[in-house]
Amino acid sequence: MNRPVRKAVFPAAGLGTRFLPATKSQPKEMLPLVDKPIIQYGVEEALESGIENIIIVTGRGKTAIEDHFDVSFELENLLESRGKTCELELVRRVSELIHVSYIRQKEALGLGHAVLVTKELVADEPFAVVLADDVILGSRPCLRQLLDVYQHTGRSVMAVMEVPKDETSRYGVIAAEPVDYNRASDRLFRVLDMVEKPLAGKAPSNLAIIGRYILTPEIFVALAETAPGSMGEIQLTDGIRHLREQQPVYAYRFEGTRYDAGDRLGFLKATVELALRREDLGADFRSYLKSLEL
Ligand code: G1P
Repeated sequence: MNRPVRKAVFPAAGLGTRFLPATKSQPKEMLPLVDKPIIQYGVEEALESGIENIIIVTGRGKTAIEDHFDVSFELENLLESRGKTCELELVRRVSELIHVSYIRQKEALGLGHAVLVTKELVADEPFAVVLADDVILGSRPCLRQLLDVYQHTGRSVMAVMEVPKDETSRYGVIAAEPVDYNRASDRLFRVLDMVEKPLAGKAPSNLAIIGRYILTPEIFVALAETAPGSMGEIQLTDGIRHLREQQPVYAYRFEGTRYDAGDRLGFLKATVELALRREDLGADFRSYLKSLEL
């Protein structure tokens, strides 16, 4: 039995420049997809995958995230006194189920650095990393799929998906060889190399890293030795590449659909899909969309 994964790290210190002006005074993680902040989808995915300990890496201007996962006595009292039990349940549910710690990333030195600052909080155990911008919908939580692979291999594993060749430069991209798993050989890969944001035409494959990882604690040593890379930042991809020199690293082509909610078009697509899936809104919204003369 491999050690259990009990903690999930959520890097959330980015400036959200792609969503200005909306993110001038509010964190991008708090932008709502229908009526739930982006980050809550990731937190719920962690919970559904059996992880209750959430570590959020924040920065300046991110206190709304802390307030969101905290108890709001005034709001709860008001809802209670007005008999609004459904709303009360909605605001209570997630914060009751999770234990959250916050740590500040004082300077925006990159995703790898954001993970590195959680070293003391994670301590010497395997952990998950969730990039909340990547919203993944499917019948099984993506993180749960990775945890199953981790239980099988005992090694670090990250989510990947096939992307069109002309989009590879937006991602971390892997070179990999397939490994048999669950009577199939087209989902699990042993990573041979990886490149963050490869130049056009230079990607080693079309398998792009998506924001879900299970990492062994040795990643902290690897990250501490990782020099700034793409965009002058300490990249998580480079840290994992370094880790791979010491132990096998896997990638899993997950089942589900991913939306890049950190991008304006991806955000709109996620909003539409999530609204259509809602029991209370889906039917009306679908007929509204159909009525549009596009
Ligand atoms: C990050 C990672 C990248 C990964 C991507 C997935 O990049 O560095 O390897 O492919 O998330 O969303 P970012 O989107 O933060 O630039």
